[in-house]
Amino acid sequence: MDPPPRRLAAPLLLLLLVAAASPAARAWKKDEFRNCNQTPFCKRARTRAPHSLDAPLSLAAGSLAISPDGSISAELSHPSRPRPLVLRLSALPPHALRLQIDEDYSTATPPHRRFQVPDVLLPDLEARTLHLPEPKTAAGVSTVALSSDLDVVVKHDPFELTVRRAGSGDPVLSFNSHGLFDFEPLQVSKPEEETWEEHFRSHTDKRPRGPQSITFDVSFYGADFVYGLPEHGSTSLALRPTRGPGVEESEPYRLFNLDVFEYLHESPFGLYGSIPFMIGHGARASSGFFWLNAAEMQIDVLAPGWDGATTLETGRIDTLWMAEAGVIDAFFFVGSEPKDVVKQYISVTGTPAMPQQFATAYHQCRWNYRDEADVDGVDAGFDEHDIPYDVLWLDIEHTDGKRYFTWDHSAFPNPEEMQRKIAGKGRKMVTIVDPHIKRDNSFHLHQEATEKGYYVKDADGNDYDGWCWPGSSSYPDMLNPEIREWWADKFSYENYKGSTPTLYIWNDMNEPSVFNGPEVTMPRDVIHYGDVEHRELHNAYGYYFHMATADGLLKRGEGKDRPFVLSRAFFAGSQRYGAVWTGDNSADWDHLKSSIPMVLTLGLTGLPFSGADVGGFFGNPEPDLLVRWYQVGAFYPFFRGHAHHDTKRREPWLFGERRTAIIREAIHVRYSLLPYFYTLFREASVTGIPVMRPLWLEFPDDKETYNNGEAFMVGPSLLAQGIYEEGQKSVSVYLPGKESWYDLRNGSPYKGSMSHKLQVLEDSIPSFQRGGTIVPRKDRFRRSSTQMVNDPYTLVIALNSSNAAEGELYVDDGKSYDYQHGAFIHRRFVFADNKLTSLNIAPDNLGKKKFTSECVIERIIILGLRSGAKKAIIEPGNQEVEIESGPVSLRSGSSPAAPTIRRPNVRIADDWTIRIA
Ligand code: NOJ
Repeated sequence: MDPPPRRLAAPLLLLLLVAAASPAARAWKKDEFRNCNQTPFCKRARTRAPHSLDAPLSLAAGSLAISPDGSISAELSHPSRPRPLVLRLSALPPHALRLQIDEDYSTATPPHRRFQVPDVLLPDLEARTLHLPEPKTAAGVSTVALSSDLDVVVKHDPFELTVRRAGSGDPVLSFNSHGLFDFEPLQVSKPEEETWEEHFRSHTDKRPRGPQSITFDVSFYGADFVYGLPEHGSTSLALRPTRGPGVEESEPYRLFNLDVFEYLHESPFGLYGSIPFMIGHGARASSGFFWLNAAEMQIDVLAPGWDGATTLETGRIDTLWMAEAGVIDAFFFVGSEPKDVVKQYISVTGTPAMPQQFATAYHQCRWNYRDEADVDGVDAGFDEHDIPYDVLWLDIEHTDGKRYFTWDHSAFPNPEEMQRKIAGKGRKMVTIVDPHIKRDNSFHLHQEATEKGYYVKDADGNDYDGWCWPGSSSYPDMLNPEIREWWADKFSYENYKGSTPTLYIWNDMNEPSVFNGPEVTMPRDVIHYGDVEHRELHNAYGYYFHMATADGLLKRGEGKDRPFVLSRAFFAGSQRYGAVWTGDNSADWDHLKSSIPMVLTLGLTGLPFSGADVGGFFGNPEPDLLVRWYQVGAFYPFFRGHAHHDTKRREPWLFGERRTAIIREAIHVRYSLLPYFYTLFREASVTGIPVMRPLWLEFPDDKETYNNGEAFMVGPSLLAQGIYEEGQKSVSVYLPGKESWYDLRNGSPYKGSMSHKLQVLEDSIPSFQRGGTIVPRKDRFRRSSTQMVNDPYTLVIALNSSNAAEGELYVDDGKSYDYQHGAFIHRRFVFADNKLTSLNIAPDNLGKKKFTSECVIERIIILGLRSGAKKAIIEPGNQEVEIESGPVSLRSGSSPAAPTIRRPNVRIADDWTIRIA
């Protein structure tokens, strides 16, 4: 096959551009992307039968030793391999085991070091590593105690590793139990008769280092389901089996960051981001497995009986992991609860960034708001229709010819003034900055990057030239810390002319997307810093880009302003840099439905700050779909309306008064819950527990919840269920747990541990507060969240069967890092024995900075209160306040009433008690 032309002829380029911009032409084209059979390492690994390698890798018994750092090292070998592999086992508290396997670089000479992904694992990981005790070896099996309740059993020949409960000996996770572990050694030189080249469509991948893939199997014991591995379109929260009895024809889950036009809502095909982390959960166990590797990965979830040998009732789930390159750097996490597993993953990859308050509110985006007048009009439209919003976004057309960091001066002659005007109402703006740099010799960024040699190089050593929005483009090598530093400096006010302190950033197309590249991305043989091939780091390119941009905003704000950067591509660790969204979805009901499992999966794998484009990016949503999307979107952690430029305008007031009112109500629900959301973001930033949660994260023993991808929890207290069908009249909602739930809209109680058939209402989706919880709200509506800062709070107490409830409120300045030095309010509200108490739960060892607030609680609604009490006494002060009947929800007039303590006016910053008389 002829190699592709290095430069495309102009008419062809034009065609490409038009094709790329037109939605119809961009519908998902299966043939543009490789399937497993077209991917040699995947095909090879997938067709190999269990225990079929002629000489499986075995552990050289004499090589097992404790290293000075407390880890265990050993050699893995077999006669046909040129060199042994080096294995390292280390333990992290409380319940994580790390397994590293790589070539032996000390004794032999592999031509090249395999790529170990830098800057993902936390830098203090080694310091946290435990000292392991001496292994006990007998009859070819070594056992190491990891902790008082866990040990790891290593079988030498063939090599197999099992993490088990020390007391019972029950296995939790195992590696290579099916003998599928293979590690293709790096070759010293290419044998004459072999060709290492691979072809896909018109593209040739030179593969100068030959095959270097890694395969192994991992089993999750006691798991009823496995979850994780974003990003795929799916309406199922649990990962469906991809091979074995009952699976007709399926691809493995693919992790390969790609810009997929009009992606399918249901497909194991990889989308924009990749996180190689899987959680197993069942009534008997919760565990996790994370493989830090940024090369293309394919993962099979094997149905019971997949190998024709195991029985259908195995009590475990087997999985097969295959990667094109890299090393094994893998973590086994054991939880007693699924939250422990998430926390352990976070303890390795980092806690999520705490967002600014504004970023948790509603964002309005469109490709494109055309000019300053358009921006003005949209901004005013929100005010006219009494709909709050916080951020207005500008897509690629705001630039001068897709040269990022510039403005189209005819459309945006006064960008600073425009931002200041918006900021006057407490609002912010976001502009897009993509990684492709226009190859235009008069563009300063291109000049600089070229002169400094900062671009990624093609296989021949020239600056790689690919096609994207600006036409011919090159891509800064974000793997290089020096280049990230250079990029970060571009966000200073001096360098980014026309930017102001209220402008934040959107990173798009950072998979990276290359319109004329293989599978719409960069060729795998492109070369990065340190002679790393693109194939080795592909899935992390966008991660480094996101990191550099977030660092840029941090520098710009002199380390005082929390960055807001939304990224489309992501990898393990992206949570430290900002938010992500689920890319170019479509305006149809299926995509609305799949957005829930997709956002839930992101949360489980460390990324709590995500959402889907409300309304659907491609196509025009029917008005009812748009309304339903706002009602669900109001609960997404990241809540943004966005649309393709070919779609009709769809600002919330364009669909008639009735629908405007319903959308307004949905956005109001979000704004009233902002104190609760912010408190959840605080929790996520400390523990990694996501804001939006699968039901089973809160109710791990309840099997009914394990594959529920239609309902979801927001924090520990709220449950919502979307409406995903047009014209749906009734919906069945399962409410877990033994306590009652209260309808958020009217306070009606519903029994737990059962499904309820509910009538579908036009003006809201089913949403409930769990008995035993307290939720803080702010019920006065302003133009933006900034304008609500001094507003009083409402507390909603939903009592459980013991007449008790608890909840939290976290407040800080909403923008700076002073909270890291103690400047915040963190209260726990406890209702018990007819008494509500506010307790300070802020640790006092964080620093001396102070934050206080004059905000008071203006209303306390008590759901489920059985006594007919009429008075409450506030202490200190012994002040009496009335308990009246007040509306449960915000909707004026129509809401049913509940006992309400009016104007207790206690400060959120203080200790106090309110006793019901
Ligand atoms: C693709 C993104 O996914 C979409 O949100 C954006 O509007 C277009 N690129 C144009 O920048």
